Amino acid sequence: MTSRIEDLALTVATSISQIGDYLRSQSLPFPSFDVDGPVEATLKDVQIEQARQDAMASCLELFSLLQGPRMCLRPCYNAAPMHAIYKFEIAQKVPLVGDISFTDLAVKCGLYEPDLRRIIRFAIIYHRAFLEPRKGYVAHSAASRQLMEDADVRDGIGLMFDDFYPSFARTVDAIETFQGQEPNQTGWALAHNSTHQSTFEYLAEHPSRAARFSGAMKFFSSTVPGNSPSHLLQAFPWGELGAATVVDVGGADGYVSMLLAQSFPKLQITVEDLPHIAQEGKVPLPLRERVRFEAQDFFQEQNVKGADVYLLRWVLHDWPDKQAIQVLRALVPALKSGARVLINDNVAPGQAGLMPLIPEQFIRELDMIMLAAFNAYERELEDWERLVKAADPRFGPIKYTQQSGALLGVLEIEWLGE
Ligand SMILES: C[S@@+](CC[C@H](N)C(=O)[O-])C[C@H]1O[C@@H](n2cnc3c(N)ncnc32)[C@H](O)[C@@H]1O
Repeated sequence: MTSRIEDLALTVATSISQIGDYLRSQSLPFPSFDVDGPVEATLKDVQIEQARQDAMASCLELFSLLQGPRMCLRPCYNAAPMHAIYKFEIAQKVPLVGDISFTDLAVKCGLYEPDLRRIIRFAIIYHRAFLEPRKGYVAHSAASRQLMEDADVRDGIGLMFDDFYPSFARTVDAIETFQGQEPNQTGWALAHNSTHQSTFEYLAEHPSRAARFSGAMKFFSSTVPGNSPSHLLQAFPWGELGAATVVDVGGADGYVSMLLAQSFPKLQITVEDLPHIAQEGKVPLPLRERVRFEAQDFFQEQNVKGADVYLLRWVLHDWPDKQAIQVLRALVPALKSGARVLINDNVAPGQAGLMPLIPEQFIRELDMIMLAAFNAYERELEDWERLVKAADPRFGPIKYTQQSGALLGVLEIEWLGE
């Protein structure tokens, strides 16, 4: 009988050989961190993508087993280097072609050269951001190039290292200090000196951080394949709705709605969010007739009455049960009989270690962000069922769909009231 590490190594070897054959047959580039290397690692063929997932999960488990239990207790996650790269806009100051010396880059960034050097070297080794092609010189890698070229990537990194990491550092303080479940009793509130308000109230007072939060949602959606809104398009029969009206509650800058509108040309969509977020600016001209924006506080009575679908994507997981129930109740006066409430959100497994390792890591990571920033949590199916029932008994039973490869489930609920 083979051992676990031998089984894992075999899975890696078999999967990588499948991936190699596939890439060669399709004339696709092999993964690399070179500045011109492919940015997107996801593979279109479902079977080969599964092989990629299997190889990654096996590599991770193999790595942990080879490290041993004691080393697993001390992974080095240090936020300072990426925080500095974001804050001092270091990626934007490295040329896309060729390289730059640490000395010149330090001058451009206004930083002490030895600090800049160690920040970059950490980022090269831990994040694969930048390369040191010759001693003392910095060049872009595929990852740092993304930081330079894509504002959503910068927003995601900014939110993570500027806002969330300080919140993680105060989460234990928050648990100890408040012993409460209110949205203002969080690591975020302590880290941002804002214990009088929830994180979203704080963001409303800091519009540039709120805009960054919206950009970051797009980054997280596009970077983790399981978070892609494309799963939502496939998991619900949008096409059968015909000329239906949809309200995207808490829809941020409307990136999900725009995708929906592009794919289903008969839908009329209202994107709702807080006033500083719900702005029409970015809707492409051909969609302007069908995608409109409206400021709506989702704790207040829903303004758009009688729509066919009310979509809540990644909204309720940001709130503890008490507030999530209020959001659902605020919809009730607007609901016509047969209307659908569509919750597109994470559904956490009810036991650790049953799901494949990588998707479960994403869900557990998000769950910890929910704790640190919102005092909220990733709900299991039973939690969702309890929540919806508590909001109003006239909500019908949850019809739950989870697309293969999706991290977010679709929870379809029919309004059975009048
Ligand atoms: C995690 S984001 C999800 C955004 C988007 N639905 C998506 O799928 O990426 C939560 C959204 O809820 C919005 N939000 C927070 N509090 C709100 C409130 N009281 N009323 C309306 N929107 C709110 C935020 O501005 C943010 O855009």
